[in-house]
Amino acid sequence: MTGPGGRGGAAGGGSAGGGAAGGGAGGAGGVAEAFAGRYGGLPDGVWAAPGRVNLIGEHTDYNDGFCLPMALPRVTRVAARRRPDGLLRLHSAQAGGAGTELTAAGLAPGTVSGWARYPAGVVWALTEAGHTVGGADVYVDSTVPTGAGLSSSAALACAVAAAYDGLYGLDLPGPELARLAQRAEHVFGGVPCGIMDQMVSVCATDGAALHLDTRTLAHRPVPFDPAAHGLALLVLDTRVKHDLADGAYAALRAGCQRAAALLGLPALRDLPVAGLSAALAELPPELVPLVRHVVTEDARVAEAVAHLDAGELTALGPVLTAGHASLRDDYRVSCAETDLAVDTALAAGALGARMTGGGFGGCVIALVPEDGSAAVTAAVTAAFRTAGHAPPAVLPAVPSAGVRRVG
Ligand code: GLA
Repeated sequence: MTGPGGRGGAAGGGSAGGGAAGGGAGGAGGVAEAFAGRYGGLPDGVWAAPGRVNLIGEHTDYNDGFCLPMALPRVTRVAARRRPDGLLRLHSAQAGGAGTELTAAGLAPGTVSGWARYPAGVVWALTEAGHTVGGADVYVDSTVPTGAGLSSSAALACAVAAAYDGLYGLDLPGPELARLAQRAEHVFGGVPCGIMDQMVSVCATDGAALHLDTRTLAHRPVPFDPAAHGLALLVLDTRVKHDLADGAYAALRAGCQRAAALLGLPALRDLPVAGLSAALAELPPELVPLVRHVVTEDARVAEAVAHLDAGELTALGPVLTAGHASLRDDYRVSCAETDLAVDTALAAGALGARMTGGGFGGCVIALVPEDGSAAVTAAVTAAFRTAGHAPPAVLPAVPSAGVRRVG
């Protein structure tokens, strides 16, 4: 791993101006053209930041623990141009309409609503952190589905953070961009999220998952190439929309903090598996399953990383499935649709499957033999039809690069 707070180096976590081409639909040219149609003239640049799935390590990031997310080919693109007059103008292809016009220096928490909270929050966070930034014209286009648990808000915030980094010549290290994007989500988005989504959106590399220590922000790319092992990773979107701002996420986070305080620990990351039974005996019953999940999940991350490092990708399957059981039975953030998708995928030949992201709906990942992808997809689709659910959407899950300048 790189050192605490250090640049990602090969992990792509340096300043966000790197030049690799963007992935996903609607390329840099498309968003630059849309920018010109909206504002006139060309943008100063175009930046792209990805959504993510998490292989393992769920609800560990706000406990200072470990996780293993990977970036998706789906990205949010931001075409942007500096403005000398301090105005911040925001338009999005997805939102359409008149857009939002704000004053960069006058941004305040609680004064911006809808998707514009995230870009506005980033500009506010940059200013709050003492960076000299001003206005900009910003045009956003995204292929990351919203509300699916694929971190669309982190992709947006990270793309805007990278754009401002480039526009205003800040040259900030990747983890610093991630922190600023997280601050925007906390204060302007109203979700006390951890740092996983922002770190992977900034620091991911092609062909690898990101092993992240959320306490130090040390991170390391762990090569993950299912196709080379005759496998595929499916992302099945249950289409059950989740909203982490509804309070359930904050309540879980508060429960974990209370447990750590009762145990006299800085965070649950500091409780080793060996000390788990003794610690659980000291806790009130409602906190026991939360702590059990977090501590065993940190151990599952270590196990998963060991398997990937050893090139034993099939061994990852049971780790994923155990993670799902823990989220379902202990953390209680799965739902009928995610449970059905996991159970059906496993019955149809998946080597492992789990819900991914914050929970309460969203996506399931399934590690499948490559020649079994169609059968697993068909089985889950049929099971959803029988249960009266809309069919799941299936997304390609190829480990992709983090934020970069694409135009
Ligand atoms: C959401 C949050 C992340 C993380 C996950 C659960 O995606 O944004 O910080 O806590 O939930 O692992």
